[in-house]
Parts: sequence; structure tokens; C-alpha cells
Amino acid sequence: MHSTSTTSIFNNPKLFVEGWYWALPSKKLKIGKVKAVKLLGRNLAIYRGASGQVIAVDAYCPHMGAHLAEGKVEGEGIRCFFHNWKYDERGICVEVPSLGKPLPVCIKTWSTAEKYGMIWVWVGEDKPSKLPFVPELENVEFDYILGTRFVKNCHPNVLLINAIDAHHFNTVHNLPLEIVFDSQNLNSNAITFSNITRGGDDSWLIRLIRPLYRNEVTYSMCYWYGNTGTVTLGPDFLHFYIIFALRMLEDGKTEGQTILVTRKRNGFLGWSVNRVLLWLTQQVGNYFAKGDTQVFQTIQFDLKIPIKADQSILQFIQHVNQQKALTWKTWETVDSPISSASLFEHEQH
Ligand code: FES
Ligand SMILES: [Fe+2]
Repeated sequence: MHSTSTTSIFNNPKLFVEGWYWALPSKKLKIGKVKAVKLLGRNLAIYRGASGQVIAVDAYCPHMGAHLAEGKVEGEGIRCFFHNWKYDERGICVEVPSLGKPLPVCIKTWSTAEKYGMIWVWVGEDKPSKLPFVPELENVEFDYILGTRFVKNCHPNVLLINAIDAHHFNTVHNLPLEIVFDSQNLNSNAITFSNITRGGDDSWLIRLIRPLYRNEVTYSMCYWYGNTGTVTLGPDFLHFYIIFALRMLEDGKTEGQTILVTRKRNGFLGWSVNRVLLWLTQQVGNYFAKGDTQVFQTIQFDLKIPIKADQSILQFIQHVNQQKALTWKTWETVDSPISSASLFEHEQH
């Protein structure tokens, strides 16, 4: 009856969902530079070619295993520091200087993308699907800043459910209204939980701000690949957007980065307004992060006694467990998919 077991992907320190993962901020990788990045247990060399495109390759040179981040970017390719073999942007060996011709070897490359000021890597053998995005901003231009980078002593899945742990909004964050979520699948890798209550008539604060809301208090969380969450919250006339981009470290710990987003506003005035709004968004994010910082350093997550208020958490666990799992470090596909029996266990509560 436990919500976590070795067969489930959720909260598993050895498995993760195939998907897009943040690698490093775009600003940290200038044209012609290469960086060593350890992502989900695997070592990569990520570089920016002369045209500006970002290329991610497995770190170790097929010749003798030198780390390619010690090498040099040349055009769209990379040259190994050690014996100067060169690989192009497809990872194909195009030069072995001592032989005067290339050898038929290659390094593995991974799809990359840049969005919200971040370089993302597609981790998986399948064709990449959609990059994480804020649902409300799918087709509009936006502005962003990177917020804080942090490490937590618990699994990314566990950290992320904080945003839909309806009960703790009252106990930890003193929110004077009851939050009730309705879930909606955006696609097979993304699920949205949106608050559907107006609630809180007994609170003077809620009565005061009531005129600002058309229907309910806007608060929704969209989860992508079980590892990145985008929060949308605020009154009708001004929505704040906070992205929690997480990835798993050794032993199921979390390394994360917050990204603050707002709609694009034109002109110098628009730009100035956005600086203020993004700063404000960061304060909103900090407020929610601050209340329960400590509990995530010590938690041993195991939802043994789910109550009604935990319904969304169970749904999220199920959503994560239904996705394609890969293995920590090797990035190999997991052969035995989660049995439907173990999913069913959650539904019985
Ligand atoms: S180890 Fe890379 S060229 Fe020899
Ligand atoms: Fe919280």
C-alpha cells in the first residue's frame, strides 16, 4: 500500500522520466566555449558552435577517453585536447591528424534547446517531444529572469508535490482559504492541477480582494516529465509565472533552478514594468519556498495514509509512474514497465 516502491518511477533514486532536463543557463555558454555538465548521472560536454547552436555530446572521447570539455570548439565541431581528433556537430569523427584522415567512429549527441534563458537537453532515445512551457504563455512572447539555484535533500518528485499539497497551504503557509484542485492532462507528459474554489468568505483578506477575481483564485501547477513545474497564480489582471526546473542528483537529491516569467510588454516602459514584475514574482516564489525549506531536508517521503486532501498528490504519482522510465547514469530504457497492479493500489484509497 506504500506510495513508493522499487517498481515505481515516482521518488525512485535510480529511475527518471524520459524528457527535457535543464543543463545550464544559456548565458553561461558563450560562442566557441565548452562546459562539462553532469546530468542525471551521465557526463556530457556541452558546447556552443560558431553559429550559436548548442551541441551536447557524451563527455568521453572514443579514442582514449579524454573528457571533451578539455578540448576546443572549432566551427560547429569539437576537437579533443589529447590527440586532436575532431568531431562535427553530428558527433562524427572528421579528422585524425596523425593519420591524415578520419576514422569511422562517432560520439553520441543529444538534442538540445534553449528557452527561458536555459539550455535544455532531451534525455532519451525517442524523438524529443514538447519543451516545458507555461500553458497560458504557449503562444505569446514573454520576458524572464533566472531566480535562485538550490540543492535539496529529497527527490525532485517529492519537492514538486509541495505545489499541490492543498492541506499544507493552510498549515504551513497560513493561506486563509481551502484549495481544491481539478486535474487535466495536457499531453502524456504534462498534467495541470488548477484550483477550482472561490472559498474563504470568512476571511476579511479574501473579501477584500474578491473584486479582483472573476471566478476563482487563479492558482495552477503544470508538471512536465515529472521534473519541471510551472506555477501560474494571481488575480485576473496580473498573473505571476514561476518555473521550478528540477533534476535529480546522486541518491535521489534535487538540484533546481527557479525561472521567473512574465508577458512581454513593449517599449522602454514595458521593459521597466517587467523588471519590477519579475522582481515581484521572485518575492512571491521566495515566500512559498521559505515556509517549508527545512522539512525537505529531513523528509522520508512515504504517503501511507492518504486522506481526501491528498488526492491530487496520488494523481501526480500515478501520472509520473505512467511515463517512460530511464535508468540513472546509463540512461537506458527500463525494460519492465510499471505493472498496472501497482498503479491500482493508489486508486483504492
Ligand atoms: S583521447 Fe581524444 S583524441 Fe585521443
Ligand atoms: Fe509549501
